[in-house]
Amino acid sequence: MNLRHFNYLCIKVDETTSTNDLMWKYFKEITVEEGTFILAKNQTNGKGQKGNVWLVEPGKNLTMSVGLTPNIPAKNAAYMNVVAALAIHKTLLDLNIDAQIKWPNDILVNEKKICGILVENQIQGKFIQKAVVGIGLNVNQTIFADQINATSLANQIDKQSNIESIAKSIHLNLDAYYSLLKDSNIKQLTLLYYQHLYRINVPCKYADSSGTFIGIIQGIDAFGRLKVKKENNRTKIYDIKEITYL
Ligand code: BTN
Repeated sequence: MNLRHFNYLCIKVDETTSTNDLMWKYFKEITVEEGTFILAKNQTNGKGQKGNVWLVEPGKNLTMSVGLTPNIPAKNAAYMNVVAALAIHKTLLDLNIDAQIKWPNDILVNEKKICGILVENQIQGKFIQKAVVGIGLNVNQTIFADQINATSLANQIDKQSNIESIAKSIHLNLDAYYSLLKDSNIKQLTLLYYQHLYRINVPCKYADSSGTFIGIIQGIDAFGRLKVKKENNRTKIYDIKEITYL
C-alpha cells in the first residue's frame, strides 16, 4: 500500500461553504492536478447525502474533498464510494479502530456513525471525467447534541488527534485503492469491501418497496449494488435508495 500516484497537494482553508463545491469551482477555473485536496476548518453549507446538511463543530472535525479525473466507465461509479470507504477504513484501522462500512456511504464504529462520504461524479458519454470525493470525519468533537448515533475519533481513543495527519493518511490510502479501480480491479475491491461490510452475513431487519423483512447482506455486485438474501432464500439486488436499514 505504498505506491504513490498523487502528489501531496493540500489546499487549506479556514472557511468555505462546502469543500465539494469549492473543488468544483477549482475544476472550472484552474487545472486541478489529480489528487489535489481541500481541507477546511469550517463549512457554512456542508452537504450530506440525500440533500441533507452536514454540520461540523468548527476546527474540530475533518472536512476534506479530493479532486479526481478518473476516466473510468460510468457503470463503475459506485466504486468511487467503495474506494473512499476502504481508504477511510484503513486510516481508522491504523489508529486501532476497527470500523465497519455501512453500504453505501457511512463508516460506523460500534453502530455509531463516525464518517460520511459524498462522492459527486461528472459523467461525459460513458465515462466519469471528473469526480469530487467529499469526506466528513468526526475527529475531536466529543459531544453530539442532536445526533445520538454519532461518534468521533476522540470518543473512541480518548485523545485529540491532528486533523491534517489524518487527512494525509486518508489521501495516501485513497491513492492506493483508487489505483486498483483505475486498473479495473473490481473483484479485489469487492472482496476487500466485503471483509469490512456492516451487517455482513447477519440476519437483520430492512424495508423495501414491498415492506419490512429480515434479510442477510451478502456483499455488493459488480455495479456496487447491495446483495441481500431475503426470507424466501432468493437474493435481491438493491440500488441506492431502494432499501432502508431498520
Ligand atoms: C453524509 O451525509 O453522510 C455525507 C457527508 C459528507 C460530508 C463531507 S464534509 C466534506 C465534503 N464537503 C461537503 O459539503 N460534504 C462533504
